[in-house]
Amino acid sequence: MSTLQQEISRRRTFAIISHPDAGKTTLTEKFLLYGGAIQSAGTVKGKSSDRHAVSDWMELEKQRGISVTSSVLQFEYDGYCINILDTPGHQDFSEDTYRTLMAADSAVMVIDGAKGIEPQTRKLFKVCAMRGIPIFTFINKMDRDSRDPFDLLDELEKEFGIGTYPVNWPIGCGVGFKGVYDREKKSVLDFYELHAGRKRIAGINCYLEDREKLNELIGEGAASELVDQVELLDAASYEFDLEKVSCGKLSPVFFGSALNNFGVEPFLEAFLKMTSGPLPHETKDGVVEPTEEKFSAFVFKIQANMNKAHRDRIAFLRICSGKFERNKEYLHLQTGKVAKLSQPQQMMAEEREIIDCAYAGDIIGIFDPGVFSIGDTVCEPGMKVRFMDIPTFSPEHFAYVEQIDAMKRKQFSKGMNQIAQEGAIRIFTLPGAGLERLVVGVVGQLQYDVLKFRMETEYGVKYRRTDLPHSLIYWVKSTPCHINDLRLADGTLWVQDFRDHNLLVFQSDWAVRWATDKNPGLVLEEYPKMNEADE
Ligand code: G4P
Repeated sequence: MSTLQQEISRRRTFAIISHPDAGKTTLTEKFLLYGGAIQSAGTVKGKSSDRHAVSDWMELEKQRGISVTSSVLQFEYDGYCINILDTPGHQDFSEDTYRTLMAADSAVMVIDGAKGIEPQTRKLFKVCAMRGIPIFTFINKMDRDSRDPFDLLDELEKEFGIGTYPVNWPIGCGVGFKGVYDREKKSVLDFYELHAGRKRIAGINCYLEDREKLNELIGEGAASELVDQVELLDAASYEFDLEKVSCGKLSPVFFGSALNNFGVEPFLEAFLKMTSGPLPHETKDGVVEPTEEKFSAFVFKIQANMNKAHRDRIAFLRICSGKFERNKEYLHLQTGKVAKLSQPQQMMAEEREIIDCAYAGDIIGIFDPGVFSIGDTVCEPGMKVRFMDIPTFSPEHFAYVEQIDAMKRKQFSKGMNQIAQEGAIRIFTLPGAGLERLVVGVVGQLQYDVLKFRMETEYGVKYRRTDLPHSLIYWVKSTPCHINDLRLADGTLWVQDFRDHNLLVFQSDWAVRWATDKNPGLVLEEYPKMNEADE
């Protein structure tokens, strides 16, 4: 195997998804601890203290104690090079999350054992299922009173239409939690043994038939319950089938307690064994294999001012093939420009560092002078790969945003444009109204708070926002007359995007129907168009 192939095959790139508070951050932190990437727990996120937050880079996130943006972390474990894509848990940021999932080869779904599937788990699962990537389930917080494990599996199977395969089985829960039974290794992992904080502890081998030993290990009552449950499981649950796992039809399930470091390492080990290296990527020009010699990558996220110390804009690339080398010339396909990328960065737990090379599967951040858009291709000159469009979502909330201080016109316009380019908000102009008053569209209301906060802290601009009752936006594909002369329901707004495309913003479905009924020849198209960049 060539070095390139070796490097690529040891990469694992996965996203962690969960409903807020299920324990995603805690689990990520424990992964990093095992990988030796951080020294102590509490470094990834400190909600209720002033501990430095790695995943949550913005002040706002710290203030609110939520994770608004996704971040990327890389660490080494057991010869593997692991890239974790952390996803924001708040529902308003689903768009950012969707994009992040486009860059992952598999997903780890964290579920609170007491709560089961929650709304955000449902949404995120759908995207993973759409992509057909393997999904691993970690049922967390078993040290607390939890729901019946059979019920939890049943819920996963019924709601998500997938099979589940419990790799281990919990022995009790809450104060009675004794550990887990590993079905394959036929061993008991003792909660109290691990609780003492020892790393890489082996389970105690124990066949269920050896009742004497089992009784001794976990007590008679728990032993007889475990034997019954595992018997039931062997008879009724799905068989393990790696092929089904690979296409997301069967989810291996693990029980544990991230906070207590319990079940995390066995999970990581099994996960690494059951997943493959980077997956091939479909493009508009055929499939790109990760081991293809030539470097290719797509932009899945753009973020400005990630760090106060670095006032810059970073485009995050998912490498899909070959090897990336610092200072080599690469092509940005959409502009046709060839440039050296001299400051490629990787997020290593607490720090960003400049890297010299990276391989298919890795995520790198490159400096963006304002040229990249989500979905763009960066590759070796001469290569022609256009990656598939990344789904974007139509804004559902609209507001007028007006600058207050005329002296700050430039900053207002710069800030609004830059933040809009990151893709979280959309800005539109009102034809003939100038740039002092804009229409802003967002998918979730929380984005307004982020916009306000960032405009104030990063650009020093305050503005006035007036919420609008509108909720639907359409492109005007063709019109029988000037837009001003169309017969439209009261309140319908005519706006333009930064390329001067005409759009109509409506208050209801009824108003949309009215527009098309009363204006024969008016053709509306759903917003946003997926391939804006191709036009
Ligand atoms: P999230 O990223 O999915 O939002 O969840 P996070 O890891 O922040 O965990 C949410 C809360 O659940 C935290 O408590 C965390 O300590 C707790 N937690 C995580 N895993 C376990 C577990 O296995 N058992 C128990 N009992 N609790 C767990 P918090 O009090 O909200 O926050 P903090 O002050 O501890 O940071």
